[in-house]
Amino acid sequence: MNDILGDWKRTHYCGDLRAANVGQEVCLMGWVHRRRDHGGLIFIDLRDRKGITQLALDPDRDPAAHLKAERVRGEFVIAAKGVVSHRPEGTVNANMPTGAVEVEIRELRILSVAQTPPFMLDEFTDVAENLRLKYRYLDLRRESIQKNLIMRHKVAQTVRNYLTVNNFLEIETPILTKSTPEGARDYLVPSRVNPGNFYALPQSPQIFKQLLMVAGFDRYFQIVKCFRDEDLRADRQPEFTQIDCELSFVDRNDIMDIMEGMIAEIFKSALNIELELPMPRMSYAEALDRYGVDNPDLRFDLELKEVTAIVKDCGFKVFADVAGRGDIVKGLNVKGGATFSRKELDDLTAFAAIYGAKGMAWVKIQDDGTWQSPIAKFFTAEELDKIAARLAAAPGDLLLFVADTAAVANESLGRVRGHLGRKLGLADPNVFKFSWVTDFPLFEWDAEAKRHMAVHHPFTAPLDEDVVLLDTDPGKARAKAYDLVLNGSEIGGGSIRIHDQTVQSRMFELLGIGAEEAEEKFGFLLSALKYGAPPHGGIAFGLDRIMMILAGAESIRDVIAFPKTQKATCLMSEAPNAVDQKQLQELAIRSTVKPKTADSTN
Ligand code: AMO
Ligand code: AMP
Repeated sequence: MNDILGDWKRTHYCGDLRAANVGQEVCLMGWVHRRRDHGGLIFIDLRDRKGITQLALDPDRDPAAHLKAERVRGEFVIAAKGVVSHRPEGTVNANMPTGAVEVEIRELRILSVAQTPPFMLDEFTDVAENLRLKYRYLDLRRESIQKNLIMRHKVAQTVRNYLTVNNFLEIETPILTKSTPEGARDYLVPSRVNPGNFYALPQSPQIFKQLLMVAGFDRYFQIVKCFRDEDLRADRQPEFTQIDCELSFVDRNDIMDIMEGMIAEIFKSALNIELELPMPRMSYAEALDRYGVDNPDLRFDLELKEVTAIVKDCGFKVFADVAGRGDIVKGLNVKGGATFSRKELDDLTAFAAIYGAKGMAWVKIQDDGTWQSPIAKFFTAEELDKIAARLAAAPGDLLLFVADTAAVANESLGRVRGHLGRKLGLADPNVFKFSWVTDFPLFEWDAEAKRHMAVHHPFTAPLDEDVVLLDTDPGKARAKAYDLVLNGSEIGGGSIRIHDQTVQSRMFELLGIGAEEAEEKFGFLLSALKYGAPPHGGIAFGLDRIMMILAGAESIRDVIAFPKTQKATCLMSEAPNAVDQKQLQELAIRSTVKPKTADSTN
């Protein structure tokens, strides 16, 4: 089988040929995209990753090659030698880069036969995603997904070049490691030689990259797989890739400056778009106040407005009570939304309820400026005017209100804002709006566990002016943390780290991690911080999320060669799967899951 190619060498990719190649003898190899039999003349569209070229087989000119071409079917792999020629007048295809030429084939070899694929490999057929994932190697032949992965390669190259020029070193960190707290569950790997013990796959290289700073590498990066066992969403995968960076002797602004330069180069190389730098920066508090969420889509306005002060004494009990409790009432003006039907309003209310809103009051501003609303009757004329002015209401507008704790009012209305942006087509897919979001809270209160949790991770430093709050009111302390948000998606996040061992120990204490537990889990970090740790900080970008946006993909799976489903399975290899009893024994593991029996369905 080895010599099937003989002395044949490919001379060009299928996408390479142009009118300038006319007259040249070429040898192409690839997949049969389509074969057309014109009663005598056979045309084959031959495909490889660079494109498609038309091969022409004439029975009078080359009977042997023509005979072989008759046997060829879709997705056969063939090699063909011939001469490039102009396509006959009237058959030029201006939509194809190679559309001016064809190759008059003199010799043809069938390198591999193919069964009929389970689905059409063109861009026009709608194929169930499960089928695509099962035959991923075929799905990956499609042009759109090849484009995505080629672009991904380009982005990775750009990242490596940019960071190398900026003095970063690419250093690998272990995959078989110990738990790093990033807020998700760990994937565990049992150790055979240490029975009963487990490695954790890294949720990120966080601790190792900090240790590299202690070691003096000064600027590190890695394009690295991270593993998180969490509930999957459209923009999450159980294993995903970070562009992970850490730098010494820098402050937050230095990091944001360097990193937005990298993002600009990525956009230049992938889409030939020049981004405007510096990127805007806003505090977490401002993001929540104006947009309700910490990852706002800034392609459209639709800003939230607080009306608590206006409604605090109003006749609508829900609003007055909430204001009286010290909670808030927020509103949103959907311009032109007065046309929404009752059903649309109910759907929006149900959407807000997902995020905890107990109700969503609505007001339609009628042509004469009066309110059509179930709650209009509870307000004085003055209150109505003030609310209208605060929300810049005009005839034809729809006003929506949620009264609740700040957390619920902001998030639910903020999500409604994002939902409406998509529904009303306010978010132009060809526009890219970035913002850094800074000064996140250091902690969030976990009501169930009755303790503080780190919003970013436990190694994030508090703002200098908030250090005193650690002892008095930790819930109010802000962090030297920043996220980069693009079109409503968090594409990266990082922070300046605690580089002082006593502060780090205090942080663990505040997080309810006792000295013993801290020593057991992070002793090596605490110890390293005692041996001369430089001030340092860093960031990690979600490469898959960036690629999704660059490629305009709806699903994160469209930018990953071999992705997992929402249930964290690989439909092609059928991972995860059951293992032999013997393997489990070697690992000193016994499963509590009953083996499937013949009569148990599924
Ligand atoms: P963080 O947890 O914010 O920070 O992760 C950084 C970025 O990784 C992406 N991301 C994901 N992408 C796809 N699937 C997932 N399941 C997933 N989870 C996260 C997001 C996110 O912004 N060690 C810190 C970084 C640091 O402090 O330097 C970290 O991992 O785009
Ligand atoms: P009710 O008095 O419960 O019938 O509510 C009257 C209107 O107020 C309805 O449109 C509810 O959706 C709305 N509403 C109820 N609770 C809230 C709330 N917490 N925030 C905003 N609107 C609410």
